[in-house]
Amino acid sequence: MERAVQAGRAGHFSGSGPRMERTYIKRYRMEIDLPQRPLAPPCLPPGYRFGAWEATLSESHARAQYRAFAREMDALVFASLADREGCRVLLERLVNSPQFLPEGTWLLVYDPGTGSRLEACGTIQALRSGLRGGSLQNVGIAPEHRGRGLGGQLIQRALAGCQVAGIKRVGLEVTACNQAALRLYHRLGFRPVRTVYKVVQVGVAGWPGG
Ligand SMILES: CC(C)(COP(=O)(O)OP(=O)(O)OC[C@H]1O[C@@H](n2cnc3c(N)ncnc32)[C@H](O)[C@@H]1OP(=O)(O)O)[C@@H](O)C(=O)NCCC(=O)NCCS
Repeated sequence: MERAVQAGRAGHFSGSGPRMERTYIKRYRMEIDLPQRPLAPPCLPPGYRFGAWEATLSESHARAQYRAFAREMDALVFASLADREGCRVLLERLVNSPQFLPEGTWLLVYDPGTGSRLEACGTIQALRSGLRGGSLQNVGIAPEHRGRGLGGQLIQRALAGCQVAGIKRVGLEVTACNQAALRLYHRLGFRPVRTVYKVVQVGVAGWPGG
């Protein structure tokens, strides 16, 4: 899988466990300036609604995050995303951080109607960075709900919240081969400002764990 990523091999090691290799994953830092005029919160298709951050929604955010990321490239880059408990712990850390920005943190909920249970199908979280900066984290839509504009709506909802909190510039990071996310961020006005590399350990094919 790592060969599908624009990656460079940085050497390998072996020990008592599976043979592992260190790989660099190419990612872009992208940013957008928020306009002076107030951003209108977006409208959702029928059946969907946004949930503003509240602590009681923490488990729902973690569930939506796991559904969105578990089978995606980013779960190789950030191992916690591949695991339900990992998602719960990640979210717990984020919302307890002094930088946590509740105004930019939103849950997307689907109500199938007919009295069926509500479904947490998307999440986005935000952190402050510096005096007037913000960063969006872990934007994800569950696979069955993709391709309907919901990712774009969720990001716009978060940007409108960041603006209300006094944020002027918002950034995020995206894995270079994540075409759907890159296209979406470009469409919304994010632009790449630098390239970064994340070091990950991957199992080598043919070896235990590879
Ligand atoms: C990225 C993600 C949030 C987008 O959610 P979504 O609800 O499908 O988003 P939207 O429908 O608003 O827009 C998706 C865009 O990607 C495009 N797209 C979808 N699959 C694509 C692909 N394989 N290659 C290129 N573009 C693709 C769509 O055409 C659309 O662009 P358009 O509106 O200009 O036509 C969703 O794919 C996801 O959760 N992915 C897994 C988690 C992830 O990688 N998150 C990003 C972390 S940086």
